[in-house]
Amino acid sequence: IELGTSDLQEILTFTTALARQAGDLILRGSEAILASGNVDEKKNSVDLVTEYDVKVEELVKGELEKKYPGFQFIGEESYAAGSRPPLTDLPTFCVDPIDGTTNFVHGFPHVAVSIGLIYKKRPVLGVIYNPFLDQLYTGAKGLGSHMTLRGLPPRRLPLATPRPLPSLSQALIGIECGSDRSAGIMHAKAEAYRRLAGNPAEGVERGRMAHSLRALGTAALNYCMVAQGGLDIYWEIGCWPWDICAGAIIAQEAGGLVAGGHSTPLDNDVNEEILTGRKYIVIRAIGDSEAEKGADAQKRLIKDFYETVD
Ligand code: IPD
Ligand code: CA
Ligand code: CA
Ligand code: CA
Repeated sequence: IELGTSDLQEILTFTTALARQAGDLILRGSEAILASGNVDEKKNSVDLVTEYDVKVEELVKGELEKKYPGFQFIGEESYAAGSRPPLTDLPTFCVDPIDGTTNFVHGFPHVAVSIGLIYKKRPVLGVIYNPFLDQLYTGAKGLGSHMTLRGLPPRRLPLATPRPLPSLSQALIGIECGSDRSAGIMHAKAEAYRRLAGNPAEGVERGRMAHSLRALGTAALNYCMVAQGGLDIYWEIGCWPWDICAGAIIAQEAGGLVAGGHSTPLDNDVNEEILTGRKYIVIRAIGDSEAEKGADAQKRLIKDFYETVD
């Protein structure tokens, strides 16, 4: 199977309609779950799942398999625990049926279905839809990224002309608790939070504190927020390919830079390592006219970030 721009365009149209259909099911599911309180736990007591996570994945998987029988599928709820997702060079849909399950069961309206497509081990297309706020985000390789809000015409992302961020101290940064609360991960996140927020006990260093930190509760919508320009940085440890795939291409096509841990070369390429590596940083588009200048500014900011949190 070879995928060109017109194929991506056609897949975008199909997956956008499918994401809206999944969104309707999520909304109905929300009513049902808020009424029944039927919530199960997976690997620990903060790793939540409902029957709607499974139902939405079945719907999306079924429709994708009917329409694109030659494509592979990876989804959070049908993924066999323990094995690394079998990434091949074949086109592979990578789906999170409900990203933000904790928000979903609490009725916090930042919840999305995320449909990504990987081709030759790199994300090439993403559709993310939050039915509660009717926010649709789409992106595809070479086609740019767009946001459609409540029936308004689509708008190209980022919304504002990218401006350089003078330093980390002017940044609004997304950091999540996540559901993997293992000691190593929580230590790194707590340390990052402490240093970026500024610790009064140590004397707050003016110019070192970030403007503020945010936890939206969904990896997919954090990426969209970076693509849109609402977040300057989103940093996460502990994600899976379905958390990353669609969001990464949306952020990237909006001029954002997606990188792995600080040891990964910053080549603005969402490769297999980042996709399956569970550790990454996303920086919004920065730069004026010259793309090169923007990329340098983004890399400086990543360096600054790691110098601060490490
Ligand atoms: C989670 C959310 C959360 C992120 C976690 C993810 P789920 O996905 O995206 O924001 O911090 O790492 O696992 O379980 O709600 O699909
Ligand atoms: Ca989950
Ligand atoms: Ca997820
Ligand atoms: Ca999920």
